[in-house]
Amino acid sequence: MGPLSAPPCTLHITWKKLLLTASLLIFWNPPTTAQVRIEAQPTKVSEGNDVLLLVHNLPQNLTGYIWYKGQKTDLHLYVTSYVKDTETVIAGPAYSGRETVYSNASLLIQNVTQKDTGSYTIQITKRGDRTEGETGHFTLYPELPKPYITSNNFNPMENKNVVVLTCEPKTQNYTYVWWVNDQSLPVSSRLKQPGENRILILANVTRNDTGPYECEIRDRFGSIFSDPVTLDVLYGPDVPRIFPSCTYYHSGENLTLYCFADSNPPAEYSWTIDGKLQQSGHKLSILQITTEHSGLYGCSARNSATGREISTFKKIKVSAPSGIGHLSWA
Ligand SMILES: *[C@@H]1O[C@H](CO)[C@@H](O)[C@H](O)[C@H]1NC(C)=O
Ligand SMILES: *[C@@H]1O[C@H](CO)[C@@H](O)[C@H](O)[C@H]1NC(C)=O
Ligand SMILES: *[C@@H]1O[C@H](CO)[C@@H](O)[C@H](O)[C@H]1NC(C)=O
Ligand SMILES: *[C@@H]1O[C@H](CO)[C@@H](O)[C@H](O)[C@H]1NC(C)=O
Ligand SMILES: *[C@@H]1O[C@H](CO)[C@@H](O)[C@H](O)[C@H]1NC(C)=O
Ligand SMILES: *[C@@H]1O[C@H](CO)[C@@H](O)[C@H](O)[C@H]1NC(C)=O
Ligand SMILES: *[C@@H]1O[C@H](CO)[C@@H](O)[C@H](O)[C@H]1NC(C)=O
Repeated sequence: MGPLSAPPCTLHITWKKLLLTASLLIFWNPPTTAQVRIEAQPTKVSEGNDVLLLVHNLPQNLTGYIWYKGQKTDLHLYVTSYVKDTETVIAGPAYSGRETVYSNASLLIQNVTQKDTGSYTIQITKRGDRTEGETGHFTLYPELPKPYITSNNFNPMENKNVVVLTCEPKTQNYTYVWWVNDQSLPVSSRLKQPGENRILILANVTRNDTGPYECEIRDRFGSIFSDPVTLDVLYGPDVPRIFPSCTYYHSGENLTLYCFADSNPPAEYSWTIDGKLQQSGHKLSILQITTEHSGLYGCSARNSATGREISTFKKIKVSAPSGIGHLSWA
């Protein structure tokens, strides 16, 4: 136990000395233009990974380095330091246990957390002249995790289903923003966004809610978008309409009618005349009609996904041709 208990005592003394040195430095050395350059590898770091803060342009005749969290040489935010002569590493109050300072002044931060992001300052102390300490600054940016969207239902039915879109992952201190068709979603009465906007509830989904949805997470350094997901709202058919609208035809004409109803997926159509099934498809064609073809024409539109079927009717009157009329009269 003897050899093991000795170092903390030594460190304690050195720490006090260092505190004093640093205080003197702060007093005599107001921030000057830093010649020291700090570079992060990688430049952006995601939580749980490691980052190395490399120090370039180190001055000559150094006695050591002190790393601080923040933009100032604040002793409360003193992370770790290196004393060159003794090759000693001393941990400060802001040391988390994940920082390693090397003899070349570089600082390795392992298993980065949100709290590690922000500014870092290195203070370099030189031999013989305490007034010539140099500082370098650096800001470590967190790389936001790419978000993704989950939903209870990507194919909801209009006026029937409640859709809950959730932006993952759930993380503290992020702002969540929803985008639909490249427009950020306003908070309206229908679009409830409880909590911190992470969950989007479409209480009464309509066809107008169809579209690619994206979620964006923002922090004070930047933002990142999810891949878009498509909400494909199933609806309809609406009441079908028959074209053209004319009602009177002459014998011998070709009758062509079209039927259309808005529907997702597209409707399947069928035609009836006086209740008797004629043909399927959105187009009804009868060549050279006769008075026999007068009647009530019905178009039925059906959507198998919504299970909805709806019909519309149109009266067609075919007049007898004058020629035939004359013959039968004779
Ligand atoms: C400093 O030391 C670290 C750890 O050995 C090394 O990865 C880095 O490349 C060295 N060079 C500089 C310029 O920091
Ligand atoms: C480093 O220190 C030595 C002696 O202490 C001195 O001769 C030399 O000029 C110094 N070099 C620089 C670059 O300050
Ligand atoms: C990184 O930190 C997290 C939480 O602080 C911890 O659960 C995990 O084990 C750490 N990973 C490594 C490789 O140290
Ligand atoms: C979130 O922000 C608060 C206040 O700004 C801060 O106290 C807290 O540490 C932050 N949490 C994380 C995980 O960054
Ligand atoms: C959903 O919208 C439809 C049509 O606008 C309406 O008839 C229905 O009552 C609404 N349902 C709810 C739960 O708000
Ligand atoms: C969809 O939007 C259009 C145009 O804004 C509007 O006329 C229509 O009533 C909306 N439909 C539904 C079902 O909300
Ligand atoms: C009706 O259609 C047939 C076949 O397409 C065509 O030969 C005929 O000319 C058409 N009749 C009229 C009146 O358009």
